[in-house]
Amino acid sequence: MHIRDALESDLPAIIEIYNAAIPSRIATADLEPITVESRRAWFRQYNPDKRPLWVLEANDEIAAWLSLSSFYAGRPAYNATAEISIYIAPQHQRQGYGKYLVKQLIEVCPKLGVTTLLAMYFDHNLGSQRLFEGLGFQPQGHLPNIAVLDGQHRGLIIAALKVGVPPA
Ligand SMILES: CC(C)(COP(=O)(O)OP(=O)(O)OC[C@H]1O[C@@H](n2cnc3c(N)ncnc32)[C@H](O)[C@@H]1OP(=O)(O)O)[C@@H](O)C(=O)NCCC(=O)NCCS
Repeated sequence: MHIRDALESDLPAIIEIYNAAIPSRIATADLEPITVESRRAWFRQYNPDKRPLWVLEANDEIAAWLSLSSFYAGRPAYNATAEISIYIAPQHQRQGYGKYLVKQLIEVCPKLGVTTLLAMYFDHNLGSQRLFEGLGFQPQGHLPNIAVLDGQHRGLIIAALKVGVPPA
């Protein structure tokens, strides 16, 4: 397996993996599948030097992707803070790919100019909780009952990892 920057030609595979996560109601607040065309502008704002979008290939297939987005609509004082999105195709979950992707990201954060990584996940997303807390992310906030999925109220955890900065 290997990780590389995503190409626009990967967008259908990226969206397919994302759409596969929607029905679980665990991973994302999107409720309906999204289209490739609706995400072209989203794709084009990524930048390998600062805010990458990676794909992980396994056996010549895109098995997962990870992206880094600016926090708080990119307000400049938050330039060194970025939020992770990560999606593993259902048949490739729980094989260590998520952990591998996030570990690789943590390693390149100094080059990306990122000192705080954020992960935001529903409070019932045990996979994300295990993944991020296992890598040292600390839950810093809990917004209870902030989302409604099929009539069920769900909360959001905001977890953070300081990268390359000695603890205070
Ligand atoms: C959550 C997700 C990113 C984890 O990636 P993964 O490749 O499946 O996880 P890994 O195999 O790297 O496992 C990492 C840890 O999480 C645990 N884990 C993974 N999925 C789990 C699940 N569904 N329930 C409980 N624990 C889980 C693993 O056991 C492992 O724990 P360990 O380090 O203590 O052994 C992946 O399952 C996924 O894409 N899920 C659907 C989309 C999603 O929820 N994205 C995150 C949105 S915030």
